[in-house]
Amino acid sequence: MPVGSTGSRADPVDTFVSTLPAVRRVERAGGRFTIDGSTSLDTRGFTPPEQARIERLLRFLPFNLDRSAEASTDVSGKRNTIRFVVDAASLTVEEYRIDVSPERVDVTGESLDACALAIATLRQLLPVDSYRHQPSPSIAWDLPCCSIADAPALAWRGLLLDVSRHFLPKHGVLRVLERMADLRLNRLQLHLSDDQGWRFESTRFPLLHENGSHRSRSQLSHFNEPPVFDDTPHGGYYSQDDLREIVAFAADRAIVVVPEIDLPGHTGALIAAYPELGVPRREHNEVRGQWGISHSLIAPTPEAMAFLGELLDEITSVFPSPWIHVGGDESRLNVWQDDNATMAYAASIGLGSARRLFEKFLTDLGSLVRDRGRTMITWDDAFAATPDAAADAVVMAWRGLGVAKRAASEGREVILAPVLPLYFDYAQSEDEREPMAIGGPISLDDVARFDPSGVGWPDDQRRRVLGAQAQLWTEWVASEREIDFALFPRLCAFAEIAWTGAPAEPGFSDRLATHLRRLDAAGIEYRPLDGPLPWQQGGTGHRAHRSPWPLNDMLARLERAALAGTVAFGGDD
Ligand code: ACM
Repeated sequence: MPVGSTGSRADPVDTFVSTLPAVRRVERAGGRFTIDGSTSLDTRGFTPPEQARIERLLRFLPFNLDRSAEASTDVSGKRNTIRFVVDAASLTVEEYRIDVSPERVDVTGESLDACALAIATLRQLLPVDSYRHQPSPSIAWDLPCCSIADAPALAWRGLLLDVSRHFLPKHGVLRVLERMADLRLNRLQLHLSDDQGWRFESTRFPLLHENGSHRSRSQLSHFNEPPVFDDTPHGGYYSQDDLREIVAFAADRAIVVVPEIDLPGHTGALIAAYPELGVPRREHNEVRGQWGISHSLIAPTPEAMAFLGELLDEITSVFPSPWIHVGGDESRLNVWQDDNATMAYAASIGLGSARRLFEKFLTDLGSLVRDRGRTMITWDDAFAATPDAAADAVVMAWRGLGVAKRAASEGREVILAPVLPLYFDYAQSEDEREPMAIGGPISLDDVARFDPSGVGWPDDQRRRVLGAQAQLWTEWVASEREIDFALFPRLCAFAEIAWTGAPAEPGFSDRLATHLRRLDAAGIEYRPLDGPLPWQQGGTGHRAHRSPWPLNDMLARLERAALAGTVAFGGDD
């Protein structure tokens, strides 16, 4: 049977080699373990809530595994049992083992999170139909006998979803989380605020979601064309209960949801809701329907800081994430510099420039985040322009590896999120069938070839690479169907390099072929490897293909700006 084929009795070896990302070590053995309605589940070492979590994660099986034996008898050696145990002493963070024999399956994780990762792998040892909500009754639920020892190379294997430019309703976020869990990704950064929309329900400052969450129109045209709008309202926000649900759903799957509130730039929606916090000070601001960065910043004043402190109280009460991302990118510092009231305030506290104000703003923000027991993350602009501010903040490097290396050399923890190849809003090829995208191309191969290990860096700097993150900005990604198209299959290649810590090996393409069949079973509308389907193409309407921007020139400019210590588009260089 060819790799990737299934049928009611899938060849165990074929499905076996198709885990994605690759597992670290496998030993195959003959035979198979068949899961059926008589199979027992042994989770006796766990508390009832933990047992309930394992059962939730196994719901892709069409059987309720029998737990009745757990209470009375010793089932540790029982046949036809799947047993979960935690062994924190001998395994490293997120490490797990799976041992499948014809009699039993033993899963050992460093933690319950590691057991969740093991369940994602177990599912991939089964036929691809395990990705259907309602699998065919003729499927044999066979696991190939084997021993797997697996652990990730990178601690941070992230995806950013921009839910500000286009709101993604809650079920869409849950759907992305399910597919991230398959790929053993473990961080979802939600970009909750920007100039074009505010998505977090604030009981303390309700105008944020009441006024900041919708706009009257959205731009259809490309950046470098005269703006054309759809004149159709767009909006939405997550209630705090929605967000708690998202966080809990992610936590089951060993994924931390990291909130991002972008500051002090990209604050147009916040300022539309609370104009008194904006610079320049206007009576009335609208949530922008035009893409790009607005010419306004939140004020760097004690009043704004007090507001942000209260907002952070709310954010941290909803998100248990150890990290809070505060943006810090693309802030037009000339807006502060050109504002008389702001510079008079700066002078009153002994500061002579917008750059110094930016430094103080980030330092104060760092204290607010630290006081709430969390670690701050910023985009690399904040580090590049003000390396001494909030020196404990993690640096998320989007403008290339040069600024990442510099941050690591100055003792910062870094997350690699370079535009090339980790911005998934870029076109996937130069083919004219590709729909409009911001630029490109960034292909599947570009992602698969990326080395996230800090190759060539001194060991102490490599150790500071927390991991890597793919970004999906959504100016031109307006629907779930477009999200599927932009994310897949590139996210599969990203998961491979993030889990293994190295460029993908040749076997990746065979395993990807199987994974695409899983995505078919799950109903994901990925971009086929040979190009977009007719209805995924841009046609001749507003989604028509545009010639890609010269990506290399733009990236070289961004990297030079980062290394020169400036904020992108900051106007301070
Ligand atoms: C960014 O692309 N401004 C992080």
